[in-house]
Amino acid sequence: MPAKQPIGVFDSGYGGLTVLRSIVNKLPQYDYLYLGDNARAPYGNRSFDTVYQYTLQCVKWFFDQGCHLVILACNTASAKALRTIQQQDLPTLAPHKRVLGVIRPTTEIIGHYSETRNVGVLATNGTVVSQSYPVEISKFFPDLKVFQEACPMWVPLVENNEHEGHGADFFIKKNLHELLNKGPMIDVVLLACTHYPLLYDKIRDHLPIAVKLLSQGEIVATSLADYLGRHPEIAAQCSEGGERQFYTTDSTTEFDSQATRFFGEPVRSLSVNLG
Ligand code: DGL
Repeated sequence: MPAKQPIGVFDSGYGGLTVLRSIVNKLPQYDYLYLGDNARAPYGNRSFDTVYQYTLQCVKWFFDQGCHLVILACNTASAKALRTIQQQDLPTLAPHKRVLGVIRPTTEIIGHYSETRNVGVLATNGTVVSQSYPVEISKFFPDLKVFQEACPMWVPLVENNEHEGHGADFFIKKNLHELLNKGPMIDVVLLACTHYPLLYDKIRDHLPIAVKLLSQGEIVATSLADYLGRHPEIAAQCSEGGERQFYTTDSTTEFDSQATRFFGEPVRSLSVNLG
């Protein structure tokens, strides 16, 4: 049996830390290794091939560190790279290792929250264009109508620490207005980007009170706990000790000063050069 190793958690930048927060709360016993590809973020407007190449490179880095299980805590990477990595790369690269995303756990349950059967998905341009959400949701809830809205300004607002300013209000109002114009019957809105929880309060303020607002962190954490319960052979390969290590492909000083906003506690990162 190979040595136990931390669970890898990946995002293009800081957003995945909101998911890691929820995972750590739910499964504090495991060790975690986080990688933010900050040097190349945001991924949201990049092509399929670029997101796939970047994500694969990062997944290989996790495998080089020994990780047996990697979570893509990024919707854009989950939408544009996960399936190819699972189907094309893993069988030759590391057939016993697992890479999971954040889209499936969310699409499996979203239908339980809607009475009108009209749901809204807010995401990066890349995630919206991939059509991953409508396609995956239709597998579990064929009766749901899915309306999507790309919010290309939201990640830059968060990354630049402008998410509490008036600029954020302007773009949030604009995108929500456009979403609700397309789907006036929407009663559930999903934040399908791991950066968006930082905008949660503002989004909530600008949404009608009857509309439920879902973030992914807890949903993904619950799904991971369930997955590890159903796959004891994978759980047995994940080291336990409550240790968390953080890596970034960009400046560690910048990462450490920003990461606290996303993770909710101080972070000390190390730098990695993916070449
Ligand atoms: N946090 C990523 C997501 O969930 C998007 C950030 C980016 O555009 O790189 O889609």
